[in-house]
Amino acid sequence: MKIILLPGDGIGLEVTAAAEQVIRIVAEHFNKPLSIEAMLIGGASIDADGIPLTDETLEACYKADAVFLGAIGGVKWDNLEQKLKPEAGLLKLRKSLGVYTNMRPVKVYEPMVNASSLKSEVTRGTDMVIFRELTGGLYFGEPRGSDSDSAWNTMEYSRLEVERVARKAFEAATKRRQKVTSVDKANILECSQFWRDIVIEVGKEYPSVQLNHMLVDNAAMQIVRNPRQFDVILTSNMFGDILSDIAGVITGSLGMLPSASIGDKHTLYEPVHGSAPDIAGQNRANPIGAIASVAMMFEYSFGMDEAAVMIDKAIENTLTQGYRTVDIVAEGCKVVNTEHMTEQIINNLRKLMQGKKKATPYIDPTYYMVFWSEAD
Ligand code: IPM
Ligand code: MN
Repeated sequence: MKIILLPGDGIGLEVTAAAEQVIRIVAEHFNKPLSIEAMLIGGASIDADGIPLTDETLEACYKADAVFLGAIGGVKWDNLEQKLKPEAGLLKLRKSLGVYTNMRPVKVYEPMVNASSLKSEVTRGTDMVIFRELTGGLYFGEPRGSDSDSAWNTMEYSRLEVERVARKAFEAATKRRQKVTSVDKANILECSQFWRDIVIEVGKEYPSVQLNHMLVDNAAMQIVRNPRQFDVILTSNMFGDILSDIAGVITGSLGMLPSASIGDKHTLYEPVHGSAPDIAGQNRANPIGAIASVAMMFEYSFGMDEAAVMIDKAIENTLTQGYRTVDIVAEGCKVVNTEHMTEQIINNLRKLMQGKKKATPYIDPTYYMVFWSEAD
């Protein structure tokens, strides 16, 4: 397993350190040879090399089996022109790796049902995944630019771009609750009407999946009104960016949300949250989004579903034990810092792993054959 870490800026560094520990422990437990290398992106890369993403970093990412990114950006680089900003480095990375499908699962762990500003009757049992198109749309359309009198961007999608991300969403739905909600603004935008038409076409290849369409303004409201109605949400780059932050409210904090970005050749994992300059370097960031992104890495890049399930369970057990970072404090909880939260999750992970290792033999009295039963 060859993994490139791109900690980036702000709390990206702290959550990547947490992610790295989990990666190492899992690799060791499953006896997987591991090489990890950390490189610069975003503001850190601007400070060192003058640009947010160097060819050297990009080349290393091409060669890796998976890339993990912490977060990028910060006030220090906000006044640079658009194409020199830290964000431009991340967009170039996503585009160059061709990771067109961004999956953002939004799941409410039972101990977290009261963590949201929404009522627990609303949040409980939420389990959806947002499929956000990641390498096209308004983020990349040409022409783009500005002069002193106006500024412009272009929302554009090709048939191929819509088809491929739609297929991924429908395929995922066949393994979930058989429901895709495609979100657009087809009442106004040609680009959205085109999106909708193609999604309908692709949907015909998946007769078991129920497809419905929602306008983005309504979808934003429905996500916080009744999130349980959603299974798979399929949407464009810009709308997916906005809706995934809204969905973060359901889980109690944006710090909880992981993501996986998948292309035909490469994969990239990032927590959904940003670099949070206001708490950067204070050991206060929530590492759960990053650690849950590592779980997705083991599942999607390495086919290690068992590892993914264990990491997820370790997170849930830690929450059940009452540990909370500052963004998700609750009455009677144990408030911990980033490192302590990571340590607790790792303790729980080790327990789950030991459970798997402690196999004890027993004799089947009928057949006198030796079986191995797993303790957990
Ligand atoms: C996200 C972020 C990024 C985006 C920024 C940092 C470029 O907000 O991953 O959601 O807009 O895609
Ligand atoms: Mn965002």
